[in-house]
Amino acid sequence: MAKKIIIDTDPGVDDTIAICTALRSPEVEVIGLTSVFGNAAGNVTAQNALRLVELEGNDHIPVARGSDIPLVAPLEKLGTWVHGEDGMGNTNPPPPKGKLVDQSAAEFIVSMAHAYPNQITLVPVGPLTNIALALRLDPEIAHLIHDVVIMGGAVTIPGNMTPVAEANIYHDAHAAEIVMAAGWPLTLVGLDVTQKSVMTPAYHQELFKAGNPAVKLIQQILPCYQSYFNKTEGLNGSTFTHDPSAISYVINPDLFETRSVPVYVETVGRCMGQTVADWKGQWGDERPNVNVCVDVESEGVLALIKERLTK
Ligand code: BDR
Ligand code: CA
Repeated sequence: MAKKIIIDTDPGVDDTIAICTALRSPEVEVIGLTSVFGNAAGNVTAQNALRLVELEGNDHIPVARGSDIPLVAPLEKLGTWVHGEDGMGNTNPPPPKGKLVDQSAAEFIVSMAHAYPNQITLVPVGPLTNIALALRLDPEIAHLIHDVVIMGGAVTIPGNMTPVAEANIYHDAHAAEIVMAAGWPLTLVGLDVTQKSVMTPAYHQELFKAGNPAVKLIQQILPCYQSYFNKTEGLNGSTFTHDPSAISYVINPDLFETRSVPVYVETVGRCMGQTVADWKGQWGDERPNVNVCVDVESEGVLALIKERLTK
């Protein structure tokens, strides 16, 4: 049976690739999208989430708008320099036709957790504000959600936002710390693995050849994202596979190697947003372990995404 998933997202170029991949995968049933600020402002990412369910006739899937700001820290620079002001590579897409549901993202997550106990995989691929708010609204969801698969963190390598912090964790470190401590089955699909799966320009071209609405949209919005990677990583037209790696993990976890370890999130100072794994148990706290992805069969991930987006 298909796994029920809720994707909590800040679309976003790689969010778009991830959502299109999920919507085209029989192993998962997307029962909702919840949106959050991050790659662009909250009103923008909510509209993009609506656009993405409409793109290939999935407009029966509810979209709930979430937070516009982090829990505690002031809102810092958004990811518009990576994804464009519109989160869609500055392509200025037409408005969506559909409407957001009346519930907030946190309310939606809580109500779905109760409606489908122990059946839902939460897949946050943006800042973790909505997830922390859902836990605050009803701590019981830590026992009702089947598991949580997060694109976020940089446990064994440098960050992409600061020398130590990955963007999704950095944008709301306080929320991330709450989510990490909640004691639910949680997997971190961080930069440790997402940067190992590299989509080259040749790979992009193979996607575009399929000519379906998903890859046509990806083709339009990709140049802005490529130029970010050219500038910051010298990737020459290639792109890392951040959010789609989390979806790949949900579909086929065997492609990933994980280690079980307690992870803490730094919430103050220069190292805010750092994901610190206590590999040797030196802090000795009662922090529950999470699964940290430490390696990946990148060819398998890239093949999976390509197969879904081109069929
Ligand atoms: C994460 O940050 C965002 O820019 C991407 O959408 C991804 O979720 C990568 O650090
Ligand atoms: Ca994202």
